[in-house]
Amino acid sequence: MIARAPAKAIVSGEHAVVYGAPALAIAIARYAEVRVVRQGDPDQLTLILADLNHQSRIDRQQLLHQTDTANQHYQDFLAGTAPIKAVLQQPSSLYFYAIGTLLQLFPDLPLGLEIRIKSDIPLGSGMGSSAATVAAMLAAIAADAGLKLSDQQLFELSHGAEQLQHGRSSGLDPAVCCWGGMLRFQDGKFEKRTFSNMAGWYLLDSGRPSVSTGECGVQVRQQFLHSDIWTEFAEVTNSLEQAISGGQSELILDSIRVNQRLLSHIGVVPERVQQLVAQIEAQGGAAKISGAGAVAGDNAGLVLVYCPDKTVANALTPKMTLTPLQVAANGAASVLS
Ligand code: MEV
Repeated sequence: MIARAPAKAIVSGEHAVVYGAPALAIAIARYAEVRVVRQGDPDQLTLILADLNHQSRIDRQQLLHQTDTANQHYQDFLAGTAPIKAVLQQPSSLYFYAIGTLLQLFPDLPLGLEIRIKSDIPLGSGMGSSAATVAAMLAAIAADAGLKLSDQQLFELSHGAEQLQHGRSSGLDPAVCCWGGMLRFQDGKFEKRTFSNMAGWYLLDSGRPSVSTGECGVQVRQQFLHSDIWTEFAEVTNSLEQAISGGQSELILDSIRVNQRLLSHIGVVPERVQQLVAQIEAQGGAAKISGAGAVAGDNAGLVLVYCPDKTVANALTPKMTLTPLQVAANGAASVLS
């Protein structure tokens, strides 16, 4: 059985969505793919993380024990007595945790599986690699076992794992990976939106951040938990949504520029990336980080660029690799049996 799930790009509202503001995000046509093959002892499983050259084995009892331990460490993180890094410590921990929670929901689920995860979504770069790999893996295991896992259950399990990976996840990344297309997301609920005109939208990779999404979230929370800035983020997300649906390119440009300034203000845009964005703005385009960004180092992961005028995009390309944005209409699904 094979399942895959798309990457995501946040159009507006990262960080703010954790504090109740709305966000707009789209699934993009890069995929995590998971192959599940039945083999061996029905109480054991083998996990292969092909991109990390990592392989590990675990049995049912260890899996359930590790799941409980991770939940305890997460409570310590929430209580402020442990860093987020201490919750899921090994590359395999996120996946074992997600399978452990699936087992709690379906205790009779047979193991005896080899699970191979590979992904063309860059790791730790704001494109939802953890959410997509987890959602694809759970979809593959469920389809292989003939389980009727609803999209909502897949989302909730993926969101549960994402909480431990990122500290306090709004659920935005797993929602986009599970449902695909463009979503408006707020307070754990989503509405589908159409994003028919992709002309002028590009992705730019500013390099892998040296800090994780969880670490960025902790710093932002320390400094802005009680700030009014989230209302300003909500306003800019609403105006960007209106501008996109009305095809108003000047308003899109303006909203992205305001958005980027707000993100810089909360400290998630390194100086080097602010300069990169300034070059795009100087040519008449607009750009913002997309995802958690970075509270340290020079790189911020994914940058979303809007240049409705093709000559502007052409003028930028000798210096920057702009990839046209391609929306993935569908979310996580098993694709072959
Ligand atoms: C991370 O891709 C997006 C954040 O807003 C965190 C979240 O929404 O869970 C930074």
